[in-house]
Amino acid sequence: MTTPVPDFAAWSRAVQAEVEAALSALLPAAEVLPQRLHAAMRYAVLGGGKRLRPMLAFAAGEAVGAPGERVRAAACAVELIHAYSLTHDDLPCMDDDDLRRGKPTCHREYDEATALLVGDALQSLAFETLAQPGLHPDAGVQLRMLQLLARAAGSRGMAGGQAIDLASTGRTLELAELEFMHILKTGALIRAAVLLGALCADRLEAQAEARLEHYAKAVGLAFQVMDDVLDAEASTATLGKTAGKDAAQGKATYLTLMSARDARAYARELVEDALASVVTLGEGARRLQEIARFVVERAF
Ligand code: IPE
Ligand code: IPE
Ligand code: MG
Ligand code: MG
Ligand code: MG
Repeated sequence: MTTPVPDFAAWSRAVQAEVEAALSALLPAAEVLPQRLHAAMRYAVLGGGKRLRPMLAFAAGEAVGAPGERVRAAACAVELIHAYSLTHDDLPCMDDDDLRRGKPTCHREYDEATALLVGDALQSLAFETLAQPGLHPDAGVQLRMLQLLARAAGSRGMAGGQAIDLASTGRTLELAELEFMHILKTGALIRAAVLLGALCADRLEAQAEARLEHYAKAVGLAFQVMDDVLDAEASTATLGKTAGKDAAQGKATYLTLMSARDARAYARELVEDALASVVTLGEGARRLQEIARFVVERAF
């Protein structure tokens, strides 16, 4: 008898539950000193979010036969960097947002200095998690993973993209500039999620890695294009973050250059490209394909 394969909704719920438990175990308890910082770190990370990056890490790991417990650690590391980036993104000196994941933003619930430290501490915890001895039997591979995440989070990745985002506010970017910003601020961590999940395998063939990288770049860009579309089209209640903020703040987004309809069509094109790049990975790439479709079909 063959075991039925869980559908995408059931699979993503299982990944979300596994990652929630793992993150909860990694984060210091709220009773541990300094209590306020630890409580705020848990507030910023737990109990919300789609956990898209962990899902991508697990899906990539599945595609190349990586052991689940290694992928879990890599997935948590990327999600910790992501949660840090959101906490800082919401600060008054950046996007000045009050709502995140359906709750008051970290600096609203706590205070600005605490939210700043939450980001700092989550970033450290991410690297501590990825650096745990024996995560990968080949220490050289593990070093590569650390370097990959560091690069993705830094000035040539997420932080650099955020800098361009802030510098571009109130200006109209050319399509190529906008694409560069999106690839850095959002694409870099999404690429890291996919590649870290895959690198957890005992061995990763160069060809599979190249296909996964191509997939990740396309999905990463499509994801931020859809984030721009949803900011304009979805409601605050659905998004769990304030809708319509990009236009209100004069942010450079895809909707400053094209209609929402064209932006959606572009995101679908990118996803088709992503799907095509993983077909040769066969049945193992099922979840990667499902996530790519989810990225353009999602309502939040
Ligand atoms: C929001 O990311 C910020 C971007 C990089 C576009 P997500 O939409 O993945 O946020 P959560 O994790 O589900 O809250
Ligand atoms: C943020 O992009 C990307 C990050 C690196 C956090 P946005 O500013 O568009 O994210 P949201 O819309 O606030 O989630
Ligand atoms: Mg922002
Ligand atoms: Mg923002
Ligand atoms: Mg946005």
